[in-house]
Amino acid sequence: MKTLLKDRKSILVVDDEKGIRYGLVKLFGREGFDVFTSENYKDAVEIVSKKKIDIALLDIRLKGPQDGIELLKEIKKRDPGVIVFMVTGHGSIPNSVAAMQEGAADYILKPIDNNKLLTIIRKNLEIKTLRAENSFLKKALIKKVYSYDFITDNPAVKDVIKVADKIKNIAATVLITGESGVGKEVLARYIHFTSNRREANFVGINCAALSDSLLLSELFGHERGAFTGAVEQKIGKFELADYGTLFLDEVGDMSVDVQSKLLRVLEERSFERVGGTKKIFVDVRIIAATNRNITDLIKKGRFRQDLYYRLNVISCYLPPLRERTEDIPLLSDHFLKQYNRRYNKNVQGIESYLLDRLRSYHWPGNVRELQNMINQAVLLCEGDMITSLSFQDSGGTDLFDVVEASGQGKPLKEFLEEVVSHYEKQLIARVLSSNDHNRSKTARDLDITRKTLARKIDKYNL
Ligand SMILES: Nc1ncnc2c1ncn2[C@@H]1O[C@H](COP(=O)(O)OP(=O)(O)OP(=O)(O)O)[C@@H](O)[C@H]1O
Ligand SMILES: [Mg+2]
Repeated sequence: MKTLLKDRKSILVVDDEKGIRYGLVKLFGREGFDVFTSENYKDAVEIVSKKKIDIALLDIRLKGPQDGIELLKEIKKRDPGVIVFMVTGHGSIPNSVAAMQEGAADYILKPIDNNKLLTIIRKNLEIKTLRAENSFLKKALIKKVYSYDFITDNPAVKDVIKVADKIKNIAATVLITGESGVGKEVLARYIHFTSNRREANFVGINCAALSDSLLLSELFGHERGAFTGAVEQKIGKFELADYGTLFLDEVGDMSVDVQSKLLRVLEERSFERVGGTKKIFVDVRIIAATNRNITDLIKKGRFRQDLYYRLNVISCYLPPLRERTEDIPLLSDHFLKQYNRRYNKNVQGIESYLLDRLRSYHWPGNVRELQNMINQAVLLCEGDMITSLSFQDSGGTDLFDVVEASGQGKPLKEFLEEVVSHYEKQLIARVLSSNDHNRSKTARDLDITRKTLARKIDKYNL
């Protein structure tokens, strides 16, 4: 705070009396402020539009069509952060009170008492700095809490968190698997930010997004002149993550060539920068993630088995969202609060008929899809409750998603049964919901007996 107060601040003095301007320039100059002066509205607006002003001292009566209060409004419109004081004679005190309602910080009576004036200015600067710091700290806090929160109420995921808690302080490599959008990166951050490595860096790299040569130089860095374009030495992610965590995202998409180089580093705990000869030793915890079926890739010769063993010392599998329906209301609520904060809204919740739909939906995009959906709904919501949600996949299920979800290479019969169950569950859920859970009516609509319906409701947990 002290350092901020020591920063040079600029003051704008607007008064039509030359003597007052002169006196204040001298006073503020001595105190180390940058001072600008003007005798009327027009010149003052000109100054504010060109200079960064911290404080403005405005005579309430100015020559010309616009008075000090209009100037106050104009300054606040351009920069609400300017601290404005009105300077006033005894006769205009009521006007000055009105000015405070327009955002003036205080008013100062003529004749001006220099010491009092300086004290008031200092106090206001201090308050402003404190406010700014407070909001900065709050933001940092939210960011921190967010970066290690892993929200779940699902027993299988809770077990994964238990494992994560147990191993967070050892250096063993972790492999996180699961479909796209299930929270693999959130888990990786959770492990890092709750571990004894949290003071060092969490460095992430997406192995699928880069060509081999780029990926190598990103991971290991390069020496100056290592290749055309290497005009500067570059520190790689391994060095940046020293004493911290390196998150290798989409590791299943790494080429076999890069896999061999990575394996060597994991075995030797050291490496050279591209084009360099010096061995660099690092203490890095590796967390890798993939949404691919690595066992499959190994069978096809696209992933090195020995690397898999190295990475998979501790394995964490995050199930898809459709298999952890208890997390849906929890996460929805979490995102609702998050976007209420972001958009400054106060949406209370989601209508119950939509909750049923959320539970029976198959979530091809998992938590990320839910998050995007709530984001959009909060943004568009006009009342207290969310009354409509836009499902990416509203016309039932894309067959390929079901194939994707149920894993390739299943016997055809088993696969078809799964597809049928999937559609059946969706259909029953929809009709039930549209009939307000009236079973007789639903059975009639579907042309099945009440007993069959009850059995299916049981089977699908509806
Ligand atoms: N348990 C959770 N709590 C809070 N937010 C979550 C949770 N799981 C996922 N999210 C949110 O969902 C989004 C997707 O999560 P994340 O990026 O970790 O998925 P991923 O498994 O790494 O996906 P991909 O395979 O596509 O990279 C993120 O915005 C994340 O904040
Ligand atoms: Mg990810």
